[in-house]
Amino acid sequence: MRISEWGTTPSGETVHRLVLGSAPGAVLHVLTLGATVHRLEVEAGGPRRNIALGHRDPADYLGSSDYIGGTIGRYANRIAGGRTTLDGDELTLGAHDRGNHLHGGPDGFDRRVWEVADAGEDHAVLRLVSPDGDQGFPGTVRAQVTFTVTGHAVGVELEATTDAPTLVNLTSHAYFNLDGDGAGTIDEHRLTVPAERYTPVDATGIPLGDHAPVAGTAFDFRRPAAIGPRVRRDEEQIVLARGIDHNYVVDGEGWRTAAVLESPAAGTRLILRSDQPGLQVYTGNFLDGSRRTAQGGLYRQGDGIALEPQLHPDSPNRPEWPSAVLRPGETYRCRLEWELSAIGR
Ligand code: BGC
Repeated sequence: MRISEWGTTPSGETVHRLVLGSAPGAVLHVLTLGATVHRLEVEAGGPRRNIALGHRDPADYLGSSDYIGGTIGRYANRIAGGRTTLDGDELTLGAHDRGNHLHGGPDGFDRRVWEVADAGEDHAVLRLVSPDGDQGFPGTVRAQVTFTVTGHAVGVELEATTDAPTLVNLTSHAYFNLDGDGAGTIDEHRLTVPAERYTPVDATGIPLGDHAPVAGTAFDFRRPAAIGPRVRRDEEQIVLARGIDHNYVVDGEGWRTAAVLESPAAGTRLILRSDQPGLQVYTGNFLDGSRRTAQGGLYRQGDGIALEPQLHPDSPNRPEWPSAVLRPGETYRCRLEWELSAIGR
C-alpha cells in the first residue's frame, strides 16, 4: 500500500490517495475524500488500463453532482420529498434532487474526508463519524468501508452502527468503462442483470407503485444485451430517465451475482456480486460535458455505467420492502465485489 497526499479541498482539508494491490493484478486507487474509487487498473484480456471514472482534483469532485466513485450514505438513492417517519417521528431530510432526498443529501458521505483506520498492501479501512442530525437523519452513525484487492478482484464492505434509531443504505457509486476511462461510451458493453423485476419510477425517480416485470421491456437483461440499443428505445421509462436509471430486484437472496458487464472490444468481463436486494443501474444519463475527467477531458452521456447494490428506492416509505432502519446494538452491512477476467476464460 502506498499513501500520499493527493490534494486539498477548497476548505483546506488534505485528501490522501491510497494505492492497493499490484500488477499484473488489479490496482485500486482510493481517495479519503468520499472514500472514493478514483482509479482501477486492470488487464483482464486487454492492455493494462484504468476502468473506473474519476475526477482530476478535490474541487472537481466537490463541484459535481455525478457521485463519481463515491461511497454513498447515509441513504443511497431517493426518499420521496425528503420526508418519512421513523418510529412515529417525522423526518425532514436534505432534498436537493428535484425535491427528493438523493444519496445522503446535499452534503452526503461522498463529500466528507474519511479517516484511514488501517491500511496494508492490499486493503484499507476508512471511517467516518456522521453526527446526530446530519442531513436530517437522527443518531450518531459510525460508518466504515473496507476495500480489499485480491488478485483480479476488489471487495468492498460497508458497515455502520448508530446510537439512536436511524436509516442506513450505503453503496459504492463507482462508474466503469471496461474499454478504459475516456475511451468512449459503454454503448457496446453487454450487460446481464439476473432480475425478473425492476422498479418503474415517476419523472423525479420515485417508485410509481410496486415492482414490475422486465419481460417485454428495455429493462430485460436476463440474457446479455448491448446497452446502446436499450437506452435508445422509445419506451416511457427510458424517456423519463434519459436511459436506464432504475432499480432491479435481483433474483434470489444473500451473496450472489447481481450483474455481469462485458466489453467484447476489450475482451474483459466484470462480475458484480453483492448481498443486497436491489441494484441501481445508471447508464450515465446526466453526464453532460460539464465535468472533467482525471485526464482533463470531459465526461459525456454514457461514458460510464454505475452498478449500485442497495435497498430499493424510497424504502423508508415502503414498509413492504426490505427495511433501512438501523437500531442501536445492530451493525448494518453491505458487501460487494468486482471480479475482472478475460472473456472466455
Ligand atoms: C441516480 C441518478 C443520478 C446519479 C448521479 C444515480 O445513482 O440514480 O439519478 O443522476 O446517481 O447523480
